[in-house]
Amino acid sequence: MFTPKQSIFHSINKMANRKISDFAGFKKVLDGAKNIAVLTGAGVSAESGIPVFRGAGGFWRTHRSQDLATPQAFAANPALVWEFYHYRRNIAFTSLPNNAHKALALYEAQCLREGRRFSIITQNVDGLHQRAGSINVIELHGALHKVKCTNPKCRFLDENYDNPICEVFRNRGDPAAEGYNLPVIDKKDLPKCKKCQKLVRPYIVWFGENLDFKVMQAAREVVETCDLCLVIGTSSVVYPAAMFAPRVLERGMPVAEFNLNEEPADEMFDFHFPGKCGTTLPKALGIEL
Ligand code: OAD
Repeated sequence: MFTPKQSIFHSINKMANRKISDFAGFKKVLDGAKNIAVLTGAGVSAESGIPVFRGAGGFWRTHRSQDLATPQAFAANPALVWEFYHYRRNIAFTSLPNNAHKALALYEAQCLREGRRFSIITQNVDGLHQRAGSINVIELHGALHKVKCTNPKCRFLDENYDNPICEVFRNRGDPAAEGYNLPVIDKKDLPKCKKCQKLVRPYIVWFGENLDFKVMQAAREVVETCDLCLVIGTSSVVYPAAMFAPRVLERGMPVAEFNLNEEPADEMFDFHFPGKCGTTLPKALGIEL
């Protein structure tokens, strides 16, 4: 533990030593790491054409994406929320992993061959890490290809890759289409549970909901044991993911950030690589694509 005085000195020292775009310095740390944790957010999929949540692209029609990602929005208008998720499923299912996803998958394979541990904790629900070949992926916020029954007596969790998920959404979901007098969708036409025929919902952790206990436990274990953490394409504002990198720093382990932003999300990060992660990440990991 640092005393407050030491802590300030430590912070100033660390900020002064922060390495911006120091690929060689990072490679040394990377090569020595035995247990690597990777935290990813929407930015890792941006170059695949998947809209991020904050900043440009954070809207669907006139709605902020975050306002549709709530249990209250679903209770008030399940058809609207399902149409929004049909739109996101359509983009995710028809997008391809980019060089950032591919570099992570190839680096994981290298780690496995060398007996090193490599874990991805993702806030993304698009499944692109797995489609790129990543194996050890913890999905914090659920997955677009999964649906869960809303009937409290059933709660069946199912995989569903149908696109559209039901006929009523065929040729719908266009973000520009509000105000075109689209026919109102009847609740009876929304996706139904295979087992009990009641309404299903997207298997996504919405704002105001708790993360799955086992998923959270698995993520915590990675955060508490890793000896290097990479933070890629996340605004680091949504909890609990936002506390993972600060916790790794608290444990005295290095953190490297890859983000479009010029400035790091946390001034205590050891390395910061500004720019598109589809370019910076393969270079930092030493992966040729
Ligand atoms: P955000 O949309 O908040 O942040 C995306 C981050 O990616 C920003 O910091 C961008 O600067 C960065 N970025 C964009 N393009 C990039 C690129 N090509 N290379 C590198 N960085 C890039 O997304 P998240 O942090 O993932 O939750 O948001 C966290 C959670 O909030 C999401 O999982 C979602 C959302 O509401 C739920 O839906 C439950």
